Amino acid sequence: MRRVLEPEIMDDESQAVAYARADFSSSNQAFVDGLIEDYGSRLRNVLDIGCGPADVPIRLARAIPSVRITAADASDAMAQLARKAVDDAGLQQRMRIVKARIPGLRLEDERYDAVISKDLLHHLPDPAVFWQEIKTLAKDETVVYVMDLFRPPTKEAANKIVESVAPDESPMLKRDFYNSLLAAFTLDEIREQLDDAGLRLTAAKVSERHVLAKGLVKNAR
Ligand SMILES: C[S@@+](CC[C@H](N)C(=O)[O-])C[C@H]1O[C@@H](n2cnc3c(N)ncnc32)[C@H](O)[C@@H]1O
Repeated sequence: MRRVLEPEIMDDESQAVAYARADFSSSNQAFVDGLIEDYGSRLRNVLDIGCGPADVPIRLARAIPSVRITAADASDAMAQLARKAVDDAGLQQRMRIVKARIPGLRLEDERYDAVISKDLLHHLPDPAVFWQEIKTLAKDETVVYVMDLFRPPTKEAANKIVESVAPDESPMLKRDFYNSLLAAFTLDEIREQLDDAGLRLTAAKVSERHVLAKGLVKNAR
């Protein structure tokens, strides 16, 4: 099945609210658990790109009381939801939400020990933009930890995933989820993107719908 693009930025307010209300706790927690298991001792100053409503970075901040996190999203609606979630969690001292878009994130020139991202890659028309941004942001031995959906072989298979993962979610959320599966890359495509970018990360399927690319980026600049 060929890739079908979906809108890049989730800037419609009702769409953002539907996403924030949906229960992605199991994949979000699996992402955070895996990150800590693989690289926990390196995580001091972390950047999350395409943070959405910030469920992932909040879980990370709760799990590691010393970690500081900058979380960026290009959507005003998402950034507002993320700020509210951070305030509600009482994590304002250690978490900063910025409304910012890649390419060209203009953040203070901080050193990030880790650049993480979950379920953003498939939104981008040109995935090379994402991997180049990672190379720009990473310094010596930066942890890169990126999870994204992979594209199922058929529309029927995509429908099946939506119905098994999100059977009780709103029609809007189900539509967006289905469109995301059609917009996602295959594992082979992601490996090719990494090769093209010269990034030596491993990439593998870690569930019925997710691929994980991870590793340490050395001397990226
Ligand atoms: C499917 S959501 C994932 C949110 C969150 N990472 C999670 O796993 O729950 C993808 C997010 O990426 C954001 N996004 C899309 N393109 C972006 C870009 N070029 N720069 C920054 N954020 C972007 C969207 O606005 C959306 O909030």
